[in-house]
Amino acid sequence: MELPQPVSSQETGESASVLEEGGEDKFKTSEDIAFYRRQVQQVSDSSPYQVLTKTLKLSETCANVHLHHSTMKEDLLLELHCLKNGIVRVKINELQPIKPRYEATDALIGAQHPQRWTSQSNKEAITLSSEDGHVQLQMMTSPFHMELSSGDESIVSVNAKGRLHFETLQAKLSPRTIDASSGQKEDPLGLWKEEFKTFTDIKANGPSSVGLDFTLHHFEHVYGIPEHADALKLQNTRDGDPYRLYNLDVFAYKIGSKMGLYGSVPLLIAHKPEQTIGIFWLNASETLVDINIANASQSSDTGPPEKRRKVVANTDVVWMSESGVIDAFILLGPSPFDVFRQYAELTGFQALPPLFALGYHQCRWNYENQEDVLSVDQGFDKHGIPYDVIWLDIEHTQGKRYFTWDEKQFPNPQGMQLHLQDKKRKLVVISDPHIKIDPDYFVYSEAKKAGYFVKDNEGNDFVGSCWPGPCSYLDFCNSEVRKWYSDKFSLSSYKGSTDSLFIWNDMNEPSVFDGPEQTMSKNAVHFGGWEHRDLHNLYGFYQHWASADGLIQRSKGSERPFVLSRSFFAGSQRFGAVWTGDNVASWEYLQISIPMLLALSITGISFCGADIGGFVQDPEPELLIRWYQAGALQPFFRGHSSIQTKRREPWLFGEKTTQIIKKAIQERYCLLPYWYTLFCRAHTKAEPVIRPVWVEFPKELNTFDLDSEYMIGNALLAHPVTEAGAKTVNILLPGSKERWYDVRTYQRFEGDQNICVSVNLESVPVFQRGGTVIPRKTEAGMTTASQTQTAFSLSIALDSKGFAEGELYIDDGYSFSYKTEKQYCHWKFVFLNNVLKARPVDEMGKMISCLTVERVWIMGLMDKPVSVTVQCPGKKEEKLDFSFKDETMTIGNLHIQVLQGWLLKLK
Ligand code: NOJ
Repeated sequence: MELPQPVSSQETGESASVLEEGGEDKFKTSEDIAFYRRQVQQVSDSSPYQVLTKTLKLSETCANVHLHHSTMKEDLLLELHCLKNGIVRVKINELQPIKPRYEATDALIGAQHPQRWTSQSNKEAITLSSEDGHVQLQMMTSPFHMELSSGDESIVSVNAKGRLHFETLQAKLSPRTIDASSGQKEDPLGLWKEEFKTFTDIKANGPSSVGLDFTLHHFEHVYGIPEHADALKLQNTRDGDPYRLYNLDVFAYKIGSKMGLYGSVPLLIAHKPEQTIGIFWLNASETLVDINIANASQSSDTGPPEKRRKVVANTDVVWMSESGVIDAFILLGPSPFDVFRQYAELTGFQALPPLFALGYHQCRWNYENQEDVLSVDQGFDKHGIPYDVIWLDIEHTQGKRYFTWDEKQFPNPQGMQLHLQDKKRKLVVISDPHIKIDPDYFVYSEAKKAGYFVKDNEGNDFVGSCWPGPCSYLDFCNSEVRKWYSDKFSLSSYKGSTDSLFIWNDMNEPSVFDGPEQTMSKNAVHFGGWEHRDLHNLYGFYQHWASADGLIQRSKGSERPFVLSRSFFAGSQRFGAVWTGDNVASWEYLQISIPMLLALSITGISFCGADIGGFVQDPEPELLIRWYQAGALQPFFRGHSSIQTKRREPWLFGEKTTQIIKKAIQERYCLLPYWYTLFCRAHTKAEPVIRPVWVEFPKELNTFDLDSEYMIGNALLAHPVTEAGAKTVNILLPGSKERWYDVRTYQRFEGDQNICVSVNLESVPVFQRGGTVIPRKTEAGMTTASQTQTAFSLSIALDSKGFAEGELYIDDGYSFSYKTEKQYCHWKFVFLNNVLKARPVDEMGKMISCLTVERVWIMGLMDKPVSVTVQCPGKKEEKLDFSFKDETMTIGNLHIQVLQGWLLKLK
C-alpha cells in the first residue's frame, strides 16, 4: 500500500525554504527559545553560587567540591580535572539529580590522563596546582568564580560574569515552578511546556538548562563552533542573535546567519599572537553561544591618562544548553597546533580516507537509471576528465526504501558496479535514517520487531514524514541498533551491492518534514529513556558511525570505509567526510564555502567540502568553472545538484568550459600525493588539511580576518577566484621573512605584501611557500587507482636561506595495512647547501614500492648551477641534464626509486 507522500518544497527541489518568502519562518530565532530567554533574564551582577570549602576532596584524578545556590536547596557538584596534555576539564552536575542527566561521552575517545592537584585554601579562595606545576586554578568561594593560569599568565576566568546557570530536574510540575512562571498557567518561561507554531514541547522533568561563562583574557579573535554560513572570525553577538548549535535541515540556508545548520562542533578557538586556546563544551542538546568581544577602547577606563588602567581586550563567551551537564574542556595550547592535538586527543583524529575519496566525485539528484550512470561514466572517458566516483541519490531505491534498488531503473546494479570497477571507479549510494513504514520492507519489519525505532513520548514508535512518506527513525543512539544497521551493509544482506559501493548519510539531523523546525520533537524518547532533546546534535554522528563500521565489517576489518554525512558533531572526523548541505548556485555561496570549510577544518573535521556549482538553481558557466577550480583546492571534491536543476556534467557548456574544468580536475589529481600526505598528518598529528592563514602565521595580525584565502598544508596558499568577471585578484602574501612562488609561472614574491595579480578564466592564484617541497604526480590519469604506477615529481621552493623541506606519504590507498602491517613508506626531503636529500621519516614503514621520482624543479635558485649529479645507493654518482630559467632549475628523466635514500647535488 502506498502511503500519502509528503508535501515539501524540498521534495520538489524547488527554491524554497529560506529562498522563499517566509521560508525562514519555520526556524526559531533566539526569542523563540525558552531556555535562552530564561538564562538571559536571570543575569545579575554577581553569581548566586558559593563554594562550600569544607566539601573539597582531592583524588588521584580530580578535585571535587560542592556549590551552593543562595535560594535553591539543591547543591551542585563541581569536578575539576587537570589532564596531562594541557587540558583542564570543568564538570558541573547536580549533586543528587532525581535521575541521571545526559552526558555526551561517545564523542570522546579513550581514557584521559589525569594528573593530581595539590590544594591550598583559605576563607576566600581555594588554590589548586597541577602536579607538573604548569597549571593553577584559583577558586574564589563567594561568589563562586575561578581564574585559570598557566605559568604567570592568567588565561581564562570561569563564571566571572556570574552566568553559571543550572536548572535541576524535577519529578512533576511543582508549586515552586508555577510560582517561577509568575503564577500563570500559561508558562511563559517555557518551564514545563514550550510552544512554537503548531508544536508543543512537553518537558517531563521541567526546565533543565545549563550555562556558564568564560572570559578569555586578552583575546579578541575567536573562531570555530561550526556550522554557520558566516565569516570565519566569530562576531560579537552583543546586539544580536547568539550562535546557535542545533542540527537542522535548512534548504538554501541564509548567508551571514548564526542560525543552526546541519551539524555542530561545540569547540571555540581563541587566538592572539602569543597564544591559542580552545573551549570545548561537550553537550549534545540545543546550545547557544553568546560572544562579547570587548575591544581595547571599550575596556579602557575614562579619566586622566595617567590614571587609566592598562587597556585589555577580553572576550566573554557564554555557553547555554537546553539539558545535560556542564562538561567544558579548556585547551591551553599554547600554539594553534597544540590546540588541534589536544582536541583530537579528546575526540579523535581524522580518519585516513581511502585514496579514491580524494579524487573527484560526480553526483546528481538523480542519475536516473543504469544507462544514465554508464553514459555519464563514458562521458568522463570521452572527454578525458579524471573522476573516481559516481553517486546515486534517493531515487535509485524502490520507493525510498534504503538498501533496495528500483528494479526497473537499475535491473543489474552489480553489473553496473562491475563495469565501473573495471575502470577502477566506485559507486556511492544514499542511505538515510528514516525508514518507510511498510511491513513488507525488511528493514522496517526487522527494526519494528526488535524495537529499534525512536519512540514518541507515549511509548509508540515515533512517526514523522520524510521522502518516503510516513517513517519511523532508527535509534542509532542504541549500540545494538548500530550493530544491526552495520550488518545491513554486508554483501549478503545488501542485495545488489559490491565491495566498491560506499555510503552517503543524508537527512540525519534528523530531518522530519512535519516536525518542529523540520526535525524530531524534543520529547521523543531514545534507548535508555533519554529524551531527544538531550542528544539531538549526536543523532547524525551515530548514524555516520554505524555506517562506517558497517563498511569496515563488510571487508572483515581490512578496508577503510568512505561515508559522507550531512549531520555531524564533535568526533565525526573519526567516521569520514561531511559537506555543507544545500547551498545555492551563486557567487556568495561560493565565497562562503571557504570560511565554512575552514571552520570545520580547525574543529577537527578535515574531510569536508561544499557542493560544486551550488545544489540549488543553475550556475552560469563562469560560476561553474570558478567553483570547480575552488573545489579542486578543497578536501572533499564533489559536484552535486538538485533534481530541479539542469544537467551540468562538465562537458555540457561548450569546449572551452569543458577544457578549463578538465584542467582544474587534472591539477587536483596531480597534487594528490600532497593531499594524501596532508591527510596522513591530519590522521596522525591532527593538523587540519586546509587551514586559515593565521594558523601558519600566528603572529601576523593582518591574517586574522582573512576569509578569501587559506593554506593547504603549510606549503600552498590558495586564493580561489570567487567574483564574477574577475580580471584581477588582491592577495595577501604573509610573512616578512617569507618568499612565495606562483605555482604556474614560478615567479618569486617577497612576503608581507598585498599584490594584485591578473587572472583570466583559466587561472587560480596558488602560491608555494619558500622553504617547502611538494610531491606531485607527473600525470593526472583517469582515476586515482590508475595513477598508482605514475611517477612523482617534486616541486622545491627555496626560502631566503636556500632551504626547503617536505614529505611524501604513500600506502596502498585503501586498506588498514598501513596500521596493522606498517605497509607504507614515508619520505622526507630536505634541500640544504645545494643538496637535496631524500630519507625515510619513519624507518618502520615496510612498503615496497617501485615508484620513481621523474622530475624535480627548484624555484628560487639565485645562480645557475654548473652541474647537477644524483647519487643512489649502490650506484655511481651520475651527472644529469637540467634547464635553468629565471631562478628555476628543472631536471627531467630522473628515474630515481622512491624507496631508496638518494642525494641530488648542485654545484
Ligand atoms: C538533501 C541533500 O542535502 C541533498 O544533497 C540531496 O540531494 C537531497 N537531500 C535528496 O536526497
